[in-house]
Amino acid sequence: MDLEDKQILDLIERAKAASENAYCPYSNYRVGAAVLTFDNRIYSGCNVENAAFSQTIHAEENAVSQAIADGLLVRAEAGGIDQNQVLKLLAVFAPRGKDPWPCCNCRQFLSEFGTAFWVVGLEKRESKEKVVGLCFAELVPHLFSKEDVL
Ligand code: THU
Ligand code: ZN
Repeated sequence: MDLEDKQILDLIERAKAASENAYCPYSNYRVGAAVLTFDNRIYSGCNVENAAFSQTIHAEENAVSQAIADGLLVRAEAGGIDQNQVLKLLAVFAPRGKDPWPCCNCRQFLSEFGTAFWVVGLEKRESKEKVVGLCFAELVPHLFSKEDVL
């Protein structure tokens, strides 16, 4: 994966733009996420907090849910695309913090829709920003998945 690829930089920009719409009066930590789907569509989402903290929707969950609400899984099925292959790339943006990786709850949520995609974002070290990327399978090496349940 070429981390300077325009598609990657654009997706990070989309994640950043979504972070500006975050509803986060409790943490004031604005997160944005954007996904690129198998059919080259982009969906983004931000975190949406709640007074009952555990009800908070994370940016990654929001972005993928937007894609699903817009018919991602229906299009995949119609095109003979496996559910495991519906996502190509996920970008995560948060203004603070050193790494862009999704939290473990989000990793579990995302894993329902495959492990073949890449996660990208900006790593921040000593006020320097660098694009970093990991294959999702590296973030979640021992998945609990559909196969375990069915
Ligand atoms: N947050 C996300 O949106 N994604 C993550 O994976 C990490 C945490 C949000 C939840 C909460 O609104 C704020 O960041 C602080 O935890
Ligand atoms: Zn999360």
